Amino acid sequence: MLHNRPRRLRKSSAIRDLVRETSLSPNDFIVPLFFQEGKEIKQEIPSMPDYYRFSLDQLKAEVREIWELGIKSVLLFGKVPDELKDNKGTEAINPNGLMQRGIQAVKEAVPEMYVMTDVALDPFSSYGHDGIVKDGQIVNDVTVEVLAQMSVSHAEAGADMVAPSDMMDGRIAAIREALEMEGFVNTGIMSYSAKYASCFYGPFRDALDSTPGFGDKKTYQMDPANRIEAIKETLLDVEEGADIVMVKPALAYMDIIREVKDAVDIPVSCYNISGEYAMVKAAAAKGWINEEQAMLEMLLGFKRAGADLIATYFAKEAAKLLS
Ligand code: PBG
Repeated sequence: MLHNRPRRLRKSSAIRDLVRETSLSPNDFIVPLFFQEGKEIKQEIPSMPDYYRFSLDQLKAEVREIWELGIKSVLLFGKVPDELKDNKGTEAINPNGLMQRGIQAVKEAVPEMYVMTDVALDPFSSYGHDGIVKDGQIVNDVTVEVLAQMSVSHAEAGADMVAPSDMMDGRIAAIREALEMEGFVNTGIMSYSAKYASCFYGPFRDALDSTPGFGDKKTYQMDPANRIEAIKETLLDVEEGADIVMVKPALAYMDIIREVKDAVDIPVSCYNISGEYAMVKAAAAKGWINEEQAMLEMLLGFKRAGADLIATYFAKEAAKLLS
C-alpha cells in the first residue's frame, strides 16, 4: 500500500495553483533600456531580436508603456558616440551627457518610475574597458574615483539607484561615501557583486558598441569556475553599503543565486543577460522551443533559485503574459 502519493497535489490545476511555491509578477522585473543620441530612432539590435535602442523622445514612449504594464523599474544604458570616448571617463561625468539626459527623460515621462543607472566606464572608454587603462592594465583606485563622481552625477540628474557593473575593488564604499557627502542619502546602490567574465555578454556589447579593444575582462570580472569567491565579493559589497546585490549572468549561475540569497539579508537580484535572451529568441525563431513557455520557465527558475528581482529583456513580454 502506498502511503505517500505526491501526485495527489498535482491532480488538477486548482490544487497545483494552491500549493505553488513560487510566482512571478511584474514587480519582479527591471527593464534594461538602451538609448542613443538623435530623434525618432527605434533601432533593433541585430543580435537581440525585438529589442531596441531608442533616441530619447522614443525612450519616453517606451517608458510609459513599461509603466502601464505594471513594471516599476528600468536600468539605463547609453550608447556614447565614439568621438566622446576617452581613457578618463570624461563623458561619464558630464552633467549634460547622454546618460544624465536619459535619466531626466525617463523621469519626465513617468516621475514614479524607479530609475537605476549603469555605472561603469566601458561605454565611455576608448578601450572598451570598465576602468581606466594604464600600461595595458585596468587600474583600480583611479577608476573608483571616477565611478564615485559618475554616481553622484547620476543622482544629481535624478537617478534613484546606481548600479555599478564594473567589478573594481572598493567601489561600493567609495560610491556610498560620495553619495552621503553630497547629500544623496536616499540614492540606492545595486551592486553587481558577483559578476562573471562571461561569453554571454556578446549581444549587449553589440548594442552599446562596447567590445573591449584589447584583451578580455578576466582581471576584474570573476572566473566562472568560482563559487566561494562569489560569496566573498557579495559580503564585501554588503559591508560597504550596497542596498541590493546582484548575480550576473543568471542562467548558468543559478547555484550562485541560491548561495548568495542564503548568505545575505538584503534583496538579491540577477541579470538575465543578453546572450541568454538571444539563445531563447534564436531557438524560438527556428521553431525549436516555445518562446513564451521557455521565457516564463527561465524567469520562474531565477525566482525559485532565490532572486528577488530580475533584470531581463523579456520583462515586457512576461508582464503581458502574466496580466
Ligand atoms: C558593462 C556591462 C555589461 C553588461 C552590463 N553592464 C557587459 C560587460 O561587462 O562587458 C552586460 C549585460 C548583458 O549582457 O545583457 N559594464
